[in-house]
Amino acid sequence: MSRRAFIVGNWKMNGLGPAGAEIDAISAGAPDGPELLICAPATLIHRLSRRGVAIGGQDCHPKSSGAHTGDISAEMLADAGATAVIVGHSERRADHGETDETVAAKAQAARRAGLTAIICVGETEVERDSGAALDVVARQLDGSVPADASAANTVIAYEPVWAIGTGRTPNAAQIGEVHGVIRDWLKARFGAESDTIRILYGGSMKPANAAEILAIADVDGGLIGGASLKASDFLGIAAQA
Ligand code: G3H
Repeated sequence: MSRRAFIVGNWKMNGLGPAGAEIDAISAGAPDGPELLICAPATLIHRLSRRGVAIGGQDCHPKSSGAHTGDISAEMLADAGATAVIVGHSERRADHGETDETVAAKAQAARRAGLTAIICVGETEVERDSGAALDVVARQLDGSVPADASAANTVIAYEPVWAIGTGRTPNAAQIGEVHGVIRDWLKARFGAESDTIRILYGGSMKPANAAEILAIADVDGGLIGGASLKASDFLGIAAQA
């Protein structure tokens, strides 16, 4: 089955009002073919959501409302105009102690609110060096993809932690091996429907290495941090999808 390429920008904690110009440039330059999404800071979602590019959130609380100061629910993201949300990014796992169980609850919340859940997994450098990368990713999938996930609202992002923001990337064989394991896991879990689920690669993807990475079997798109902040770089990647 051929899956439509999905190129996702994660702006992380970057972006003020003028960021609207980047969205307008992405909208104007969007190539035919890939689906594009920018996961913006929550403060910008409403402002950016009707400008021709799909907008997502970067995290959500498992509950829909309540006494959780500073948190944002999936319903609030949807209300602001988001169509998707990243859950379980390694920066959330590391900075906020998020466990696989928390991530699964957030992915469930995304589904409840009608959002696509982009569920992140990936090994640390120590885990890679000790030969545990595949086991770590499988364990994170077991714990982070909720029991009631649907193929329609699920996207998996493989992001080796050691490749994020470092300029280093795994080689093609390493990326292909992990994506193959994820594809097999999805088949075992979702059966024939798993063919529709996209698996993104994330970690120092740029215009210069995008073609090579996007050509790897079972790489259905990218989750792009630094290179999503400038429309020209993001479009430079999208053009190769
Ligand atoms: O969510 C995006 C990733 O963490 C990748 O970030 O492209 O800056 O390495 P990066």
